Amino acid sequence: TWSSVPQGPPDAILGVTEAFKRDADPKKMNLGVGAYRDDNGKPYVLEAVKKAEAILLEQNLDKEYAGITGVPDFTKAAAKLAYGDESPVLSNLAITQSISGTGALNIGANFFSTFYPHAKNIYVPNPTWGNHNAIFSRAGLKVEKYGYFDKSTNGLNINAMLEDIKNAPKNSIVLLHACAHNPTGVDPTQEQWNEIAQVVKDQGHFPFFDMAYQGFASGDCTKDAYALRKFVADGHQVVLSQSFAKNMGLYGERAGSFSIVCADADEKSRVESQLKILIRPMYSNPPIHGARLVNTVLNTPELKQLWLDEVKTMAERIISMRTKLRNHLEADFGSKKNWEHVTNQIGMFCYSGMTPEQVDKIKDDWHVYLTRDGRISMAGVSSGNVKYLAEAIHNVTKD
Ligand code: LMR
Repeated sequence: TWSSVPQGPPDAILGVTEAFKRDADPKKMNLGVGAYRDDNGKPYVLEAVKKAEAILLEQNLDKEYAGITGVPDFTKAAAKLAYGDESPVLSNLAITQSISGTGALNIGANFFSTFYPHAKNIYVPNPTWGNHNAIFSRAGLKVEKYGYFDKSTNGLNINAMLEDIKNAPKNSIVLLHACAHNPTGVDPTQEQWNEIAQVVKDQGHFPFFDMAYQGFASGDCTKDAYALRKFVADGHQVVLSQSFAKNMGLYGERAGSFSIVCADADEKSRVESQLKILIRPMYSNPPIHGARLVNTVLNTPELKQLWLDEVKTMAERIISMRTKLRNHLEADFGSKKNWEHVTNQIGMFCYSGMTPEQVDKIKDDWHVYLTRDGRISMAGVSSGNVKYLAEAIHNVTKD
């Protein structure tokens, strides 16, 4: 029956982990998937999460189904974290829990393809997270690109971005990475966000925010929400995909949310009813444990503070690895290439500028694994292996 099913390629990101696991060399490094590691290279369960877990155990809760839109206290807390405690849009926010960021994007993609009356085009940055393309096109949207990354500076090409958004057909959907752009680690400044918000408004486009890294860009969850809150303040009716995989280290718990700013209570009620109809045949209702953890952390003042401190610590450790990597490249190995972008870029990733051939070589010769676009997950670099990484990068990039 299945003889005509062709072999598919491995996933561009998760396939790197599969290859890494098959490598027996003790020096191997997995810098593919964006997952935080401590300075010993080990997965890190946040203290705030461990404490929340102890509280939950104590509460001896049952395992009944959540409603279709998830744990209400979780979605309330998640919305406050993203939009701000006092945001006026909270009262008319249609929101549902989601299977982390990917699940949220899927709900959004399907909602747009079913109900958005104006367009089926979604503009995503060039480049963007590989899964965006797959999610949106599977939902029947046409994925188009707007200029974003400037290879000559390894920074943002704001003119191309503004120009392409301006030239997109009116009322298009525009996907924006709220902070810590994946894969480039390059974000607009606040002034640039103001301009982007204006152009999006002038063209009547619909802003779709993907916020998978709140806290990871600056170490400050409020600062990292600037773009989202600015759009809201300017009167945009945004939609938002939110993930707690990275900032709370809840990768496998799949805790996220999808929300739509609505005009009034009636619109909110109609939109939420359709979100339920969309979700029910997909997975009925979401898993509860991760949502309870997030809810407990965000609604217990000491745990919330502890968590905010831990986010900052994680962000700072990554920044210190950027500095070390650049220093080793320049001072220890005498690389003549320009590595300023290693320290200029932010968030989990360094978009190194390495070619696919160099990525293959660093894997074959040095057992260092990254995605073929040259993206390095800086969260996987530690004091123990940063010099080795610099030596490896220098060796494959020097000619
Ligand atoms: C990444 O880009 O590495 C992360 O968002 C993990 C994933 O699911 O791809």
